[in-house]
Amino acid sequence: MFQYIQGIFRPHHFHDIIECLAAALEAKDLYTSGHSSRVGDMSFELGRAMGLKGSELETIHIAAHLHDIGKMGIPENILNKSGKLLPHEWAEIQRHPEIGCKILSKSKKLKKISEIVLYHHERWDGRGYPHGLREDRIPLGSRIIGVTDAIDAITSVRPYRNAMSWEECREEILANKGIQFDPVAVETLEKLWKRWEVRWQESQKDNKEFKLKALRQLI
Ligand SMILES: [Fe+2]
Ligand SMILES: [Fe+2]
Repeated sequence: MFQYIQGIFRPHHFHDIIECLAAALEAKDLYTSGHSSRVGDMSFELGRAMGLKGSELETIHIAAHLHDIGKMGIPENILNKSGKLLPHEWAEIQRHPEIGCKILSKSKKLKKISEIVLYHHERWDGRGYPHGLREDRIPLGSRIIGVTDAIDAITSVRPYRNAMSWEECREEILANKGIQFDPVAVETLEKLWKRWEVRWQESQKDNKEFKLKALRQLI
């Protein structure tokens, strides 16, 4: 039995378990399908392009997959609300970094990951939440996720707005360099932008084909 458990926790299995946890959240949060794994992939690539490697990079990668896990603790009627959120509902949503940190703090081995998750909505200018940390007081992993999370949100359809184009998104991110986002992270994005845009376009094609197939089966 012990050997079996050890087998499960080989590094590649560990990554799969993390993906399963993130998928459990996405089963509850209808609007973020694929969000956690896209933010996970982009954060890994951005961290690597910023010169990170080894366990530091892997910690950020896992934290990125799990960054919104605290939304598990938010009522579904708020999480999946299609209209504008009321102030008290917005306050409820803003609890998710702390809830996520609390969940992950159950394991001592996930301490660094839990800290990165706690601060993923902080902003470079100190106007983020939950603690209003600024600049490099915010853990580097949280700053990286801060940018990739925004890119994925901007380029995804939400119930209250259409997705922005990658060009519009790029302008938005650049305009917020050194305001909302870590300037070095934004500068490093330049190397990755084209690849990410192409990958996004491919995924849209797959989506379209999948929807067409489903439609044909209905007819
Ligand atoms: Fe979040
Ligand atoms: Fe997110």
